[in-house]
Amino acid sequence: MENIKLIIDKAFGFVSKESVANYKLVTNEANKALHQGTGKGNDFLGWLNLPTSIDEAHLQDVENTAKILRDNCEVVVVIGIGGSYLGAKAVIDSLSNSFDWLQTDRKSPVIVYAGQNIGEDYLYELQELLKNKKFGIISISKSGTTTEPALAFRLLKTQLENQQGKDASRKLIVAVTDKERGALRTLAVQEGYKTYVIEDNIGGRYSVLSPVGLLPIAIAGFDIRQLVKGAVDMEGTCGLNTPYENNPAAQYAAVRNELYKSGKKIEILVNYHPKLHFVSEWWKQLYGESEGKENLGIFPAAVDFTTDLHSMGQWIQEGERTIFETVISVNEPNNKVLVPSDEANLDGLNFLAGKRVDEVNKMAELGTLLAHIDGGVPNLKIELPKLNEYYLGQLLYFFEKACGISGYILGINPFDQPGVEAYKKNMFALLEKPGFEEATKAIKARL
Ligand code: PA5
Repeated sequence: MENIKLIIDKAFGFVSKESVANYKLVTNEANKALHQGTGKGNDFLGWLNLPTSIDEAHLQDVENTAKILRDNCEVVVVIGIGGSYLGAKAVIDSLSNSFDWLQTDRKSPVIVYAGQNIGEDYLYELQELLKNKKFGIISISKSGTTTEPALAFRLLKTQLENQQGKDASRKLIVAVTDKERGALRTLAVQEGYKTYVIEDNIGGRYSVLSPVGLLPIAIAGFDIRQLVKGAVDMEGTCGLNTPYENNPAAQYAAVRNELYKSGKKIEILVNYHPKLHFVSEWWKQLYGESEGKENLGIFPAAVDFTTDLHSMGQWIQEGERTIFETVISVNEPNNKVLVPSDEANLDGLNFLAGKRVDEVNKMAELGTLLAHIDGGVPNLKIELPKLNEYYLGQLLYFFEKACGISGYILGINPFDQPGVEAYKKNMFALLEKPGFEEATKAIKARL
């Protein structure tokens, strides 16, 4: 099997080859700190060897649970926020038909998401959609206490029980949560739901290869064995003993930190296939939550090209020169569409007749790369031979490993997220949650 490929030469000219090569020592040290557990946040390193620790019995168990839901549900609602849903959605969207929900000859349930917002209309419309439908729920929350998913679960559990009865509902609800703590664990034990554990040492945003991601992906009908295999292979490729020159995670971490030092404060993840939109959303959480602290960190942004070339393209070409791009490029699409010839040729497109649409897309990609370099935007590229489970598995682990190394180069703890608590405290104070009386008083005085 091939590997996904990192290409960094289009960053040189903005930062020198030598300055990036000089990261060899510091990336080796960072990689060593991860593997030896000597760095910051070393109680959250469960993701590091997660792929190789997944055994046959676990995969079989996840597949069995997936089969139960696949056999009994038209719709499965994945409830979770942040790391508890983005990884699954990234993979499922990347592998699904773009018009999935309209397919009539479905072999898999429709996967929908809840608990990732508090939009009342969203929840109302979801409840309407689920009326008279055979549906199941996977409730995913590491802490088991996050407001958004807890609220959605309360609503949808009640609806399921009203529609199916309490007994039948128990078989259609799966909880993925902490081993022993939290409201979701307590409820799951009480009700006898099937459960999966999110280990203490795996943070939400590094949990896609745990049941958090694997179960929804298997329910959607995708091959979790190939996904894990891709991740296992990348775990080897980016391992402790891999020299810097052969370690794409170390090189990506190095070049983005050198670009950051040179004033490139924003990294834009670019794709040319709309299916990859949520890979970018997953990546934004991974890098944003891991590195954005202590007044440091590259701001992770994302665009879908060529769509956004007609909107954000202007800013990227000529706006403030504080950005660099990382392009996810897929070598070979899974389907072929040829441009037809047209006798009248009113649109003037006959020069493309007989060519694949992907050839047009690839030339847009190359043309954009050259234009953006001319415009002062360094470009990195990650090439995927194809969009399938195996290469996505490689890509996910590659980004996780690079994020750990990159965070250590930056000198922060890439595995905590203290800043996420600030809004929660205010929200609870404003909602007058019991236990927040002092905060309520303080916040009311500010209004
Ligand atoms: O990366 C993280 O740990 C967080 O962003 C979580 O994924 C998110 O807040 C959801 O938390 P939980 O799974 O505890 O409900």
